[in-house]
Amino acid sequence: MLKTIKVKLNTPADRSYSIVIGRGIMKDAGKTLKKLGAGRDLFLITDSNVNRLYGKTALKSFRSGGFENTGKFVINAGEAGKSLDSFLKIQGALYDFDRSGDRQVVVVTLGGGVPGDLGGFIAGTYKRGISFIQIPTTLLGFVDCGLGGKTAVNFREAKNSIGIFWQPKLVYMDLDTLKTLPPREIKSGLAETLKYGVICAPTLFDYLEFNSDRLLALDMASYEKIIPVCVKIKADITSADERDEKDIRIMLNFGHTAGHAIEAATGYRKYTHGEAISLGMLIAGGISKELGLFRDADLFRLENLIDNLGLPVKLTGCKVSSVLEAMKHDKKFKSGVNRFILPVKIGACKVADNIPEKVIAKAIKSRMV
Ligand code: GLY
Repeated sequence: MLKTIKVKLNTPADRSYSIVIGRGIMKDAGKTLKKLGAGRDLFLITDSNVNRLYGKTALKSFRSGGFENTGKFVINAGEAGKSLDSFLKIQGALYDFDRSGDRQVVVVTLGGGVPGDLGGFIAGTYKRGISFIQIPTTLLGFVDCGLGGKTAVNFREAKNSIGIFWQPKLVYMDLDTLKTLPPREIKSGLAETLKYGVICAPTLFDYLEFNSDRLLALDMASYEKIIPVCVKIKADITSADERDEKDIRIMLNFGHTAGHAIEAATGYRKYTHGEAISLGMLIAGGISKELGLFRDADLFRLENLIDNLGLPVKLTGCKVSSVLEAMKHDKKFKSGVNRFILPVKIGACKVADNIPEKVIAKAIKSRMV
């Protein structure tokens, strides 16, 4: 299988790019990247886990594809690496690598959200912006953070609070990298796929319901089906609302208002991102039900699917008050007014502002019993 999906971005200038999806294509990455003409020298940013698994294959492919001058920076694996400290270290290494100083370096990120978000931020700020290419290797990277141009580092207790929009020139996905992903990370990525089902793709939701066992058993044919569906949705949403200004892209944040707060309230250790947003989706569903917008039966379906995909439906390890407090740092909060993406049925959501705190607290509490 080899598929290409386009992100169309025409203003202010044409910055459209392709997302290439295939299997066993890591070894051909160099040729494809070279053909794109995005840079003469190539600087790879990856993390220690991914470097061990794919660093050699990727660099070999870049060299055989025609990149004579390559450099590499390996971050320690884990969310702690997505920091201003790493940002400065990598900027220093990139500066040293870019001896000619003529902005002919292309940054390539290889891995999950940490190398992707951090590497994109580095590419977008080095000398006011150089080209970058993303090679995600995680399910979360394939369906969400590996495309769309949101780049950032974490700062204090807030995730992704310092960053910019900087679009890649290409996203290159070798689905076979899923085979080396720990099962907990697969489940974490599945949470983002089911998010798409709830916000706009009821048939994808049905597919996930009928195929949860296959997905958990890493049946690659099922991933070949669902990943391009999610990529196409994200590509279209990015094309329609690149900078998250039109209440379109914000739908991708379904489950993230409470989810990010849960991650923060539990010190980013207890739950993976997908686990936290699974709880966040259930809390948003609970709020929506309380407001009379979402049927009991649909909340039940959502809870069942989350459970069947091996994701948590019960919140432990923090207090309601600490989740509420952490929510106040959410980027969607404006002048102290909260903002949630609420499901109205499986396949449709709406933006809701200023939800009474007691309704939110009740929905959080209902996940704790
Ligand atoms: N992950 C949410 C977005 O890309 O907008």
